[in-house]
Amino acid sequence: MSLTLPDFPWDSLNSHRERASEHPGGLIDLSVGSPIDPTPVVATEALTEAAQAPSYPLTAGSPELRAAMAAWWERRRNTGPLTSSEVMPSIGSKEMVGLLPTLLGVRSIDVVVIPEIAYPTYAIGAHVVGAQVVASDDPAQWPEGTKLIWVNSPGNPTGQVRDISYLRKALAVARKLGAVMVSDECYAELGWDNLSVPSLLDQEVTQGDRSGAISLYSTSKQSNLAGYRAALVAGDEALIHNLLLARKHMGLIVPAPIQAALTAVLGDDEHVALQKERYRVRRELMRDALLQAGFRIEHSDAGLYLWASRDEDCWDTVRWCAERGVLVTPGSFYGEAGSTFVRVALTVSDQNAEAVRDRFSP
Ligand SMILES: Cc1ncc(COP(=O)(O)O)c(C=O)c1O
Repeated sequence: MSLTLPDFPWDSLNSHRERASEHPGGLIDLSVGSPIDPTPVVATEALTEAAQAPSYPLTAGSPELRAAMAAWWERRRNTGPLTSSEVMPSIGSKEMVGLLPTLLGVRSIDVVVIPEIAYPTYAIGAHVVGAQVVASDDPAQWPEGTKLIWVNSPGNPTGQVRDISYLRKALAVARKLGAVMVSDECYAELGWDNLSVPSLLDQEVTQGDRSGAISLYSTSKQSNLAGYRAALVAGDEALIHNLLLARKHMGLIVPAPIQAALTAVLGDDEHVALQKERYRVRRELMRDALLQAGFRIEHSDAGLYLWASRDEDCWDTVRWCAERGVLVTPGSFYGEAGSTFVRVALTVSDQNAEAVRDRFSP
C-alpha cells in the first residue's frame, strides 16, 4: 500500500547534476535554496544550554518560546499584540505546508487553492487528502467548495510580493467562501531595495480580526537554521487551538533544545540583518551574471531566488547552465506557467557567485 504521489522533482535533475559536476572548476549547485553560512552563535549557545532534555516538551511551545513568538510577530510583522494562544511552533515550515490540509480536516470533496506558480508542497498536501487542487492567483476565480487557500509572499520561486490590498481582498474572498486563508511568508525578512513585505496578519490587512487567517514563518533562511527545523505559526486562535490538538495527538512536537534556540533567534534582529546583507551582495553578483549572459529576470523583488528566463524551454536553459558547471531548477517544477524560466538560488558563496559570472560570460 502507498500514497500515490508524484516523483520528487529534484530527483529528475540527476543527469544534469552529473554533467555539471564534470566542469573542471567543480559543480556550483544553485538548484536548492539550502543555507550555506554558519548558524549564529545566539542559536548554538541556546541549543547547547538546553541540551539536557529528559522530559517531553510542550507541543504549544515553552512559555518563553510562546512569548518570543508573539513578540516577534508584533515587532517584525506588524500584527498588533498577539496572545500566546495565537501562536505555535512547527518542525520547520515544510511539514506545516504538507500536513495542513490533513490537520485542518480538508476532505476529498474540497478544493485547495494554490498559487499559479507554486512551491510543489502545497499541491502535495492537498493530494494526501485527495482534495482537488485549483491553481489561481485571482480571488475572483476561487471556486465554491474551496476550504483552504495558499498565498506565498514573497513567492518561491518568483520572488513576487503581495501588497496589502491584494491580501485584504484575498482574505475577504476566503471568508465569503468559508475557507481558511494561509500565507506562507518564510522569506519575509528578505525584501530587496527597501521593499517591505506585508504579512497576511498585518493590522492593515486584518484590522485586528484574524478569523480564518494563518501565517507561517521559518527561521531556516533568516538564521541559517534549516538543520534545526525551527518555524512558527500565528493567526486565528480557534484554528491554532485545533491544530495544536491534532499535533498533540500525533506527537508533532518541536524538540526542547530547538525550542530554546528558536526563542533565542527570535529575540535577536542583528544576525538577521547580517545574513540579509550577505544575500544582498550575492544577489547583485548573480543578477549581473545572469543579465550579462542575456537572461531576463522577472519579479525577484524579495526572497532567496532569481526567477530568470532565456525565453526558451526551461530544460534547454538547465542544460546550458549544466554545460557551464552550474545546476539550476527548471521552472516547470512549479507549474506550467513557469516552463520558460529557471530558478537560481542565492545560497552561494561570494567566490562561487563570481565564478558563475565568469562561466556565463559570453
Ligand atoms: C515557500 C516555502 N515554504 C516553506 C519552505 C520550508 O522551509 P522550512 O521547512 O525549512 O521551514 C520552503 C523552503 O524552501 C519554501 O520555499
